[in-house]
Amino acid sequence: MRENNDFIESVQDHYCTESISMPYGIIIFGASGDLARRKLLPSVFSLYSKNLLPQPFFILGLGRTEYDDISFRNYLENREVFSSEAFSGLKADFLQNVYYLSGDYESGEFYSDIMKKIEDLEFRRNMHGHRLFYMATPPGVYCKILAFSAENGLIGKEPEHEMTRVVVEKPFGHDLKSAERLDDMISENLNESQIYRIDHYLGKETVQNILMFRFANSIFEPLWNRQYIESIWISADEESGVGSRAGYFDKAGQLRDMFQNHMMQLLSLTAMEPPSYFRSDLIRDEKVKLLKAIRPFTKEGIDENFVRGVYTKVGSVKGYLQETGVSEDSFTETFAAGKFFVDNHRWKDVPFYLRSGKRMNKKETKIVVKFRPVSHSIFPIISSAGLSEKNVKGSMPGNLLVFNVQPEEGIKLKFQAKHPGPKLCMSSITMDFNYEKIFGSKPPEAYERLLMDVMAGDQTLFIRHDDMRISWELFDPVLAHWKEMKKNNLYEYPSGENGPEETFRVLKIKESGWDI
Ligand code: BG6
Repeated sequence: MRENNDFIESVQDHYCTESISMPYGIIIFGASGDLARRKLLPSVFSLYSKNLLPQPFFILGLGRTEYDDISFRNYLENREVFSSEAFSGLKADFLQNVYYLSGDYESGEFYSDIMKKIEDLEFRRNMHGHRLFYMATPPGVYCKILAFSAENGLIGKEPEHEMTRVVVEKPFGHDLKSAERLDDMISENLNESQIYRIDHYLGKETVQNILMFRFANSIFEPLWNRQYIESIWISADEESGVGSRAGYFDKAGQLRDMFQNHMMQLLSLTAMEPPSYFRSDLIRDEKVKLLKAIRPFTKEGIDENFVRGVYTKVGSVKGYLQETGVSEDSFTETFAAGKFFVDNHRWKDVPFYLRSGKRMNKKETKIVVKFRPVSHSIFPIISSAGLSEKNVKGSMPGNLLVFNVQPEEGIKLKFQAKHPGPKLCMSSITMDFNYEKIFGSKPPEAYERLLMDVMAGDQTLFIRHDDMRISWELFDPVLAHWKEMKKNNLYEYPSGENGPEETFRVLKIKESGWDI
């Protein structure tokens, strides 16, 4: 433990590149919903309890469900918002800043009530137009809410709205066309600098660490290319099924739900070129360049480069088709895996294998970088050293670098070392940076960081319009093909296993880097 503390002291004052967050009024559309209750409000409370939330502040919850300020506060008090007992003494103070208005999203009157309430709350706190609007409703109503908000002067492009920021949750559209429609509508009413398209994976500590790791250390970047890297494996496995979200999920599927957004973000941060400076626009330019370099999927190539699957019943665990809200003839995939190539100098012919599924063996997200083995091994395998040829497993393995995004946040490096003893034997050993052990606490919830960034006006960890469009463009042909194929090539896998067996055959994988 002592060692860890020494380490923390040495990094504490090291190198901060933070922007300063400003006091904001947080106005949440869909405040009585799942996202607000499970993620947003607990994150704001957590920031408040750590004294990180800029003051003064207020939260105005909006929704169709009928509450007033008092009943909404009571509702929150009994929910996961305050699950940590550590700061229970601060609950009452925090709740004094929480308000609620219910109404119909399609009535102009509701929006003028909202405006009056905001002005009143700002006046009492001496705040001036620093408004963070959070779209936490089902996506089907985003357009209406934004149109009404613009018509009623809540949002706009004019100078008086300069400090207005709007956070839009995923799913951002259903395909390229619908995403473009939504985006065009949003851009009519807001400048790009006011729009924060959120992907909560970008707020995860280890995901942010990819950039630090690559560009703040000189020892890895020279090796970060096709000459030294054999393949890259990105997986986002989930143990849970679709639960109560079948209504949404059955129309989406795993490719829309996880690939178009989270998986593409992980891929672009892992593979992008270094920006000339750590600045939002420059980083986002590089991500977009990388996405543009991904080899598009032609119709003929889809069946060779993609696998989809659906989980089936095991014991008392329901199969996808038995989940409440899933249609009987559904052919929605709960698992997808694909082989990607990035056609540029750095990555030519290096395969990137991506996999994500529900009801897998465990909840785990990670990026595994497989380095090539040494070009010539000076250590011949000699059977008289005690190993019969039978027991020697292939050639000497290459190094592995693993970014554990969750649940055990950290970074591991595997390399060869000599086994102690008189014989010359080697084995793979692991150097391990475990976030919790080193820093003494679990990383904060991704939404905490992202909300602070919105209040600081920092868009680095948010999706720019071109980024969002390019990744839809990439997946549109795959989605169209699967729609045509219906149940053909939709492979089943038992709940609790890592996807369909066919994955390895179809993608021609000899040795998986996902299950390391
Ligand atoms: C969401 C998806 O964006 O991410 C969910 O809609 C998925 O289906 C979730 O379960 C995974 O997020 P996390 O942070 O739990 O890995």
